[in-house]
Amino acid sequence: MPLSASDDALAPLLDLARDLAERAGAIQRDRYETGLTIETKSASIDLVTEVDRACEALIVEGIQRARPDDAILAEEGHGEDRDAPFRWIIDPLDGTTNFAHGFPRFCVSIGIERRTGDGGFERAVGIVYDPLLDERFEAAKGDGAWLRDRRLTVSQEDEWGRALVATGFAYDVHRSDDDNLESFRNVVKSARGIRRDGSAALDLCYVAAGRVDAYWEQKLHPWDVAAGYLILEEAGGRVTDFAGGPADRSGREVASSNGKLHEALLERIVRPR
Ligand code: IPD
Ligand code: CA
Ligand code: CA
Repeated sequence: MPLSASDDALAPLLDLARDLAERAGAIQRDRYETGLTIETKSASIDLVTEVDRACEALIVEGIQRARPDDAILAEEGHGEDRDAPFRWIIDPLDGTTNFAHGFPRFCVSIGIERRTGDGGFERAVGIVYDPLLDERFEAAKGDGAWLRDRRLTVSQEDEWGRALVATGFAYDVHRSDDDNLESFRNVVKSARGIRRDGSAALDLCYVAAGRVDAYWEQKLHPWDVAAGYLILEEAGGRVTDFAGGPADRSGREVASSNGKLHEALLERIVRPR
């Protein structure tokens, strides 16, 4: 049985998010390895394609039509992060460098936050859809994390020397000294293996699914992590900042693991200065 939300308020959100993620994913599948218009953004290595924009337009229009009161924050320009009962946080195409190069690892990421009684927000729904593998990772608060009809749990690994670990590098890596390389070295020299696959949302889901045991990255953004954090937490994983404190929604410092290896990960990663 696949995920169904036990909270009646979340069930229609989950259905809409699934539908929009799969429709955006279909655009990515259709346009993969076809001629693309590619532009650069803040840094010469930070790319955006017409497919990122088409996917964002489809998702944003779909939400606005169905749920005009909800707020939407999306990477390629839709920055309406206002107070509302629900906030959608969208990365229309996570893994743009891969997509542009024909490297088959990218996804759609949709997270939804719900306003709580005290005026704060909690993570409520997360969907990460990999259109090439047709893998839809999903979670609703309190109902676990799922991949198709399989409930996800993190790995049981407790030996750092046997850990497979993922990471990534920010687009300012050419010009910043906070470049993650010292941490990278520490992990390469101690864990079983390391992966840099180019999609933060999928990296978090792979920890949730037990495919990797830990993942860290710095200088991410809310749209990279909104869905993946919930999927990971609902799979029994742990995510913190680099000091072991609560991970905030900014994505500035992301240390995630199966829980058993968390301290070993934190010992090896260096805080951005
Ligand atoms: C990027 C990917 C990548 C990570 C970068 C992100 P984008 O997102 O998640 O893995 O290392 O920091 O910005 O630009 O492909 O949506
Ligand atoms: Ca991203
Ligand atoms: Ca993106």
